[in-house]
Amino acid sequence: MGTGKPAERFCLGIESTADDFGVGVAAFDGKILANVTDGYVPEAGGIHPREAARHHSEVADKVLSEAFAKAQLKPKEISLVAFAQGPGLGPCLRTGATVARALSAYLGIPLVGVNHSVGHIEIGKLQTGAQDPLTLYASGGNTMVTAYASGRYRIFGETLDIALGNCLDVFAREAGIKNQKGTPLGAAVELLAAKGEKLVSLPYVVKGMDMSLSGLLTAASAALKKGERLEDVCFSLQENAFSMVTEVTERALAHTEKKEVLLTGGVAANKRLQSMLEVIAGEHDAKFSVVPQKFATDNGAMIAWTGALAYMNGLTTPVEESFVKVRWRVDKVDVPWVKTL
Ligand code: ATP
Ligand code: FE2
Repeated sequence: MGTGKPAERFCLGIESTADDFGVGVAAFDGKILANVTDGYVPEAGGIHPREAARHHSEVADKVLSEAFAKAQLKPKEISLVAFAQGPGLGPCLRTGATVARALSAYLGIPLVGVNHSVGHIEIGKLQTGAQDPLTLYASGGNTMVTAYASGRYRIFGETLDIALGNCLDVFAREAGIKNQKGTPLGAAVELLAAKGEKLVSLPYVVKGMDMSLSGLLTAASAALKKGERLEDVCFSLQENAFSMVTEVTERALAHTEKKEVLLTGGVAANKRLQSMLEVIAGEHDAKFSVVPQKFATDNGAMIAWTGALAYMNGLTTPVEESFVKVRWRVDKVDVPWVKTL
């Protein structure tokens, strides 16, 4: 006879949508037991997808072993393997998917394909306790305002061109801003912006519920070439870009009447963006929360936790349906685990 103690259940999650290869382990009750990431740093310029994918395959075994050690679990104690199935860069996604399929087959446990954007939202909710928030998800590849309605996260507004993080990163590269290894360029822009004193005139483009950031990026780079101080341009770029996303978030908040606002994705680390959103949330009597920094940028824990949620609600991904989805919008994903009040 056993002791009657139910077996604990754990999900291992693999994140490899872009420059980071991450492995997380989540218990089915929401405890995060491990969250290990190894980032690919390009020699120069932006991410080269095939080089990033090569990095991921080179570090996969090391990151996996570290995650098992951190979680103090043996591979056979894992009940489920989740992987980021999209959206993201094809070669990077395929590397993570291959590792996930191999583990699932070897261990004889189910596989779950997770939408990366849903992962950013779910880890934000788990870490902050938000139940049914209006979420601004702002990262290097995505900028959208979403909220749950009728079975899915619906998009209320989004960028029409480049993402907020990408806008900051490209500006920083064009301006020759150097960051320390391991610190994001967006964070370097934030530091410079804090020393800005003058608001340089730059475009502000909100169309309906969507925003456009590419003209702002071009104008910011041009202002620098015309002799404006770097600190002032960083400050003005942030003020304009963040005001645009805050305006859209506020209008979505007024429309949906949600009582919580959640900021998630890599750009969530930015204190100025946090303070702008905190103000509009307060004006609408909504509780504002921000995903903690270590779960803001891409990480395996968010994939592990979202995989556990999906599995506990009866969803798995048969291997023949585990092909990666480079453009997989958040509003195409059923999220049957979401329960609103
Ligand atoms: P996604 O696939 O979700 O679009 P991603 O690969 O861009 O994600 P994230 O790790 O979610 O990855 O976000 C990275 C972005 O966050 C980068 O553009 C980076 O510059 C930005 N970022 C990080 N810290 C800050 C900060 N303090 N201020 C502004 N931007 C930041
Ligand atoms: Fe991301």
